[in-house]
Amino acid sequence: MKHILVLGGTGFVGSHVCEKLIRAGLRVTVLTRRAHNARAIQHLPALTVLECNVHNEAALTQALSGVDAVVNLVAVLHGSAAKFERVHVALPAAIARACQLQGVRHLVHVSALGADHLAPQTRPSNYLRSKGRGEMALIEITGNDMVAGSVGQAPGVDRVLVGLTLLRPSVIFGAHDQFLNVFAKLQRVFPVMPLAGAQARFQPVWVQDVAQAVVQSVCMGLAQAPQLRILELVGPQVYSLRQLVHMAACMAGINQGRGRPVIGLPCWMGNLQAAMLGLMPGEPLMSSDNLDSMRIDNVASGDWAGLEALGIAPASLLAIAPQYLAGRRMGPVPAGQSTRA
Ligand SMILES: NC(=O)c1ccc[n+]([C@@H]2O[C@H](COP(=O)([O-])OP(=O)(O)OC[C@H]3O[C@@H](n4cnc5c(N)ncnc54)[C@H](OP(=O)(O)O)[C@@H]3O)[C@@H](O)[C@H]2O)c1
Repeated sequence: MKHILVLGGTGFVGSHVCEKLIRAGLRVTVLTRRAHNARAIQHLPALTVLECNVHNEAALTQALSGVDAVVNLVAVLHGSAAKFERVHVALPAAIARACQLQGVRHLVHVSALGADHLAPQTRPSNYLRSKGRGEMALIEITGNDMVAGSVGQAPGVDRVLVGLTLLRPSVIFGAHDQFLNVFAKLQRVFPVMPLAGAQARFQPVWVQDVAQAVVQSVCMGLAQAPQLRILELVGPQVYSLRQLVHMAACMAGINQGRGRPVIGLPCWMGNLQAAMLGLMPGEPLMSSDNLDSMRIDNVASGDWAGLEALGIAPASLLAIAPQYLAGRRMGPVPAGQSTRA
């Protein structure tokens, strides 16, 4: 049985990834900073939870011993430039070095739509710049710059080539998301919805489709010669943030399904709101850096393959989101009843 190590397996996407990896007949080990973060997945058969300081390279390298493939889903949405650098650049670089040392065959790294490994500095936020630099480090260290021809490093003769898949999802929706659920919750409380970045455009993708893409990338990586693949993971429709916020309230049945008025804030007011929210204690709803990310559209560039290249027909938000926003149970989709657009 092939052994897959997952970092970030306790998170929103990670829990679905673990479930699908196990269903595909793979043995899974999840590295977590705190074992109790793995409560939701530790019941899964063939799954081991290992507490580990993933930022300690020696401990990380040891954890990769005997592993066939690694999935990295670790990320942060908020924090200082140094924190983004540590989590989105230094950690992937350490994972790539550990893969080299331990002879891991394939690494699947979940990045973000809008990240650019060729020109990370052109991106508008710390989040996207660091995601791009992380991709660049992975490509270089795993030896895939020889394939990508992108980084300009002379081919090393004796560098082990670790296969690498970079997945770039747009915003991800699904039961327990921190996106549509949060907007619906806010509109249960407030009669109007002042919104920064209302014009920003997204191409939301279903969490199950993202998880399936990870699993298929692992399986392909184990079956094929090492190579670099970059995929953009998006859903079938593009929406503005204003539309998404309004739809979340309507789907949740707020104000008898009519939703609340959404008031797009002018740029200066949006910046002020984001800066103030970013200063609040706990995980902020929005920060200035999030708003900066929204200065470019979060839609597929078309430069890279999509879910279809993995044989996945992306599900439509309209078919899935009402089921969980309205509090209905998400049952299996009966045969013949499409969730696709
Ligand atoms: N959700 C979205 O809409 C979205 C959109 C585009 C891209 N993505 C990407 O998809 C991936 C998964 O996203 P997600 O929404 O599932 O994330 P998530 O729920 O926030 O989970 C991220 C995981 O990272 C680990 N983690 C968090 N901070 C860390 C730190 N400082 N050091 C080490 N580990 C840390 C946590 O694991 P432990 O607590 O177990 O250590 C957590 O389970 C990420 O790469 C994200 O950038 C997500």
